[in-house]
Amino acid sequence: MKIGIPVDFCFRSPSPEHTAEAGLRLAQALGDVPWVLALQGELGAGKTAFVRGVAAGLGVDSAAVASPTFVLAHEYRGTEKALVHLDAYRIEDSSELELAGFDDYLDGRWIVAVEWSEKVADLLPDDHLSLAFSRAPGHPQTRTIVARARSNAGAATLRAWREALKTSGVAIQGESSLAG
Ligand SMILES: Nc1ncnc2c1ncn2[C@@H]1O[C@H](COP(=O)(O)OP(=O)(O)OP(=O)(O)O)[C@@H](O)[C@H]1O
Ligand SMILES: [Mg+2]
Repeated sequence: MKIGIPVDFCFRSPSPEHTAEAGLRLAQALGDVPWVLALQGELGAGKTAFVRGVAAGLGVDSAAVASPTFVLAHEYRGTEKALVHLDAYRIEDSSELELAGFDDYLDGRWIVAVEWSEKVADLLPDDHLSLAFSRAPGHPQTRTIVARARSNAGAATLRAWREALKTSGVAIQGESSLAG
């Protein structure tokens, strides 16, 4: 079910390895709902580093995960769910991704990670999780990650993920409406 206000939290990652670790823990917190991970952030912001961790959490050999900038989609088989890694960077119009069969990935069998998701915002289901990556000025290895959900199921996933991050020593900042 869609909820009116977004729920979100924010944390910092001090290295690519920490970013991947955060992705791994998100994969472990994902439930049965078909999940679209909508990734935003400039070139080199850390989106692919994060997806590598998601892949590892799904049982995919994460060394195989590369930015799919020159092809639209990379598909990987996990132990239970499959992962599709999409990159909308070169897309002029979201209809290109629609024509490429985006909806076929929303059948519940896939975790769908979309880089440059802002370019295909109209195709994303309401229950997607949004992950925005940005650099911290003066700190080349630091990335700020803002996670946001707009559905009850998404909020539950964010809560589980936040707790897993806290347990692993990540300092959570700027939580809103994430009680529980
Ligand atoms: N804390 C960090 N988290 C993630 N990557 C980091 C971090 N610190 C430095 N980096 C470096 O930033 C780069 C991130 O590259 P990555 O391919 O993940 O970016 P991207 O957002 O997918 O970019 P693109 O839009 O070009 O696909 C890598 O070279 C990585 O080593
Ligand atoms: Mg990338």
